[in-house]
Amino acid sequence: EKGTYPHYMLKEIDEQPIVIRNIIKEYQDENNELKLNNDIRNAMKKADRIYIIAAGTSYHAGLVGKELLEKLASIPTEVHVASEFSYNMPLLSEKPLFIFLSQSGETADSRAVLVKIKELGYPALTITNVPGSTLSREADYTLQLYAGPEIAVASTKAYTAQIAVLAILATDTAAVKGKEIEIDLIKELAIVSSAMEVLTDEKEEIERLAAEYLPTTRNAFFIGRSGDYNVSLEGALKLKEISYIQAEGFAGGELKHGTIALIEEGTPVIAVTTHENVNYSIRGNVQEVVARGANVLIVSMKGLEEDTDAFVLPKVHELLTPLVSIVPLQLLAYYAALHRDCDVDKPRNLAKSVTVE
Ligand code: M6R
Repeated sequence: EKGTYPHYMLKEIDEQPIVIRNIIKEYQDENNELKLNNDIRNAMKKADRIYIIAAGTSYHAGLVGKELLEKLASIPTEVHVASEFSYNMPLLSEKPLFIFLSQSGETADSRAVLVKIKELGYPALTITNVPGSTLSREADYTLQLYAGPEIAVASTKAYTAQIAVLAILATDTAAVKGKEIEIDLIKELAIVSSAMEVLTDEKEEIERLAAEYLPTTRNAFFIGRSGDYNVSLEGALKLKEISYIQAEGFAGGELKHGTIALIEEGTPVIAVTTHENVNYSIRGNVQEVVARGANVLIVSMKGLEEDTDAFVLPKVHELLTPLVSIVPLQLLAYYAALHRDCDVDKPRNLAKSVTVE
């Protein structure tokens, strides 16, 4: 039940710090080491390439997962939109492992791929919030998200839970493979959880920013580079699905290849910068759009902030920044939708789980 909350979405955004703590608890043994089922460990060890299959927000979490799996576990990883993979299957590696990312475990587009790859005899791991779901039952292995029921159509806590579980999977695989582990993941996830708490306490400020930057606009752009680009795609999806503002996420460097033509006086641009190596370049992109009249809201991370930034995130480990940078974007979408009197939890034309192809 949503209790005193006006909407499930707001409650679920607020639950994210607890969900991260739950995940740490569930995936930790008594010696504070990561704990994963041995069959999953073996499957990860055997795989020469991972194919993540997902839709919507889960696809965006998969993009973050790719970076984690490649950087931590050194396994080449591809992320595919389920509905595309079905009709245009890429050349597969010799020993692929398929990961189905799905909050509900019922998404028909993903299931169609699962059926196909099982016919071909490939192993499948489902990462889901619903252990008895179709994708969980039909895959060889399951990892649970432990996020608790997600009721709002707009997915929030499942996104961050998926990223946290993928980080655990990647770190555990690195350990199993005898690789040097670059991150004390349990500690860093605990830091993320506290940072999320700080962010969910900033609702008033974010509500004010939503009113200032997204009052009557018909469109909005999200830009970022590298890991921040992945988050800008998810920020845009959140905003468009519940507020009906046409929103797109772009890689900062791609602006000049077309999108900048759309920037005019007052166009809202939300720029995310949490990585030192791209901070300079994304700020260059900000200058380009400011020069064309854009109204730019910059979300930066502590240590990289400048006076012009509207919102500064607490510092977390470089590989985990999407877990915190998404929180103000979720809240921004929530308040923008609220100001437009939209049905936040049940946006038009959408279902919580899409069980048709
Ligand atoms: O249950 P799933 O994770 O498989 O669902 C996938 C998408 O339908 C879902 O993420 C959708 O994009 C959300 N409404 C986004 O907020």
